[in-house]
Amino acid sequence: MDPRLNPFAPGAGTRPPAFAGRDPILEAADIALDRQIAGRHANSMILLGLRGVGKTVLLNRLHQEAKAKGYETVRLEVPDAAGGHLARMIVPMLDTVLRRLDRRRDAGARLCQAGANLANFAAAFKVSYQGFALGLDGDGLTAGSGNMEADLPDLMRAVWEAAADRGTALGLFIDEVQYLSKPELAALARTCHEAAQQGGRFLLIGAGLPQIAALAGEAKSYAERLFTYPEVGPLSPDAAREALTRPVEAEGAAFTDAALERIVADTQGYAYFLQSWGKFVWDEADASPITEDDVIRAHPAIRADLDQSFFRTRFDRCSAAEQQYLRAMAELGPGPHQTGDVARALGTESSQVANTRRKLIESGMIYSQRHGETAFTVPLFDTFMKRTMPDLVPYTPRKRA
Ligand SMILES: Nc1ncnc2c1ncn2[C@@H]1O[C@H](COP(=O)(O)OP(=O)(O)OP(=O)(O)O)[C@@H](O)[C@H]1O
Ligand SMILES: [Mg+2]
Repeated sequence: MDPRLNPFAPGAGTRPPAFAGRDPILEAADIALDRQIAGRHANSMILLGLRGVGKTVLLNRLHQEAKAKGYETVRLEVPDAAGGHLARMIVPMLDTVLRRLDRRRDAGARLCQAGANLANFAAAFKVSYQGFALGLDGDGLTAGSGNMEADLPDLMRAVWEAAADRGTALGLFIDEVQYLSKPELAALARTCHEAAQQGGRFLLIGAGLPQIAALAGEAKSYAERLFTYPEVGPLSPDAAREALTRPVEAEGAAFTDAALERIVADTQGYAYFLQSWGKFVWDEADASPITEDDVIRAHPAIRADLDQSFFRTRFDRCSAAEQQYLRAMAELGPGPHQTGDVARALGTESSQVANTRRKLIESGMIYSQRHGETAFTVPLFDTFMKRTMPDLVPYTPRKRA
């Protein structure tokens, strides 16, 4: 059918033609946002899920809703695990928030204090920015000690107090939370802790890979009680059908039942796969209704595209040793796997490959929800690994010079 009219949108954070199946999370977030802006307590939340399940799309949606409710917001995506990104990214964004607040009314004492804290924070973390020029006659020391865990809550408090003065609340939206450093995570937990204790109108909504819950708990033991962790999983079969049929019907076309069931089964409800199958099956079909035969004929194109885009880009970022480790995991199936079994598949012991495993967790390729367990963060990655590396090569210790 006409590719110009193809409604499907596989991509990273690409807005889907039909946003399906997230009602419980949307409802919970809606309540939290309404409570917080009205000065009632609500827990901050971190959306947890595997690669391609639709976390970014959901986070963006919640961000839009917060703005529509009148929140002042900051949205950022942590690019990698190198650390230090939080200060660099948040300073210019908070500066914009303060400028917007200033436009609502003349600078008040709290806004000046927030401007001062931001200047102190930026100096302490060596972030240069076009400083908020107003007054700056607040306390010249707050938020500038250089200790992230002390400074970030001071900074954020000053901003949410300035926002509260203007009758609004502050929403912080962070994607790829698992890449934050431990001090950054601890600082965020402490910020939420202080907001809860002081009745601050502040809500953090984050998204990232499943290991965050454990990371946040390690960073601050009370994180467990501070955050809720809504699970963003595959879409239910009903929601998956909706994600497929609504866009196609909007173009005046349809699927046969068999075609629909086939795609729901093939994709296991994973959002990225639904978009990908939809796109290639549409292009493959000659006419509506789209049949199961069309789906089967589209398989080679789907596989080639997924291998090239979704899987390969992640695989290419891994070292040879990491690729071997992933290949050994694939040998055992989709997972999760016992870490000892992976080492055995490589013909070695866990301690020999512990470093490789740690690096894979840091880069977000695998995660460990329970002690001694290892699983892929990318759905269906085991099948890709077997296609791309047909042979499992045993571990060989690196020779020391
Ligand atoms: N609720 C949904 N209904 C239909 N399609 C969706 C839904 N959520 C996401 N998608 C589609 O799935 C794809 C992946 O979404 P998104 O980038 O948000 O996933 P992600 O979980 O953030 O992935 P990653 O971990 O790789 O960043 C996009 O093409 C998007 O359009
Ligand atoms: Mg994402």
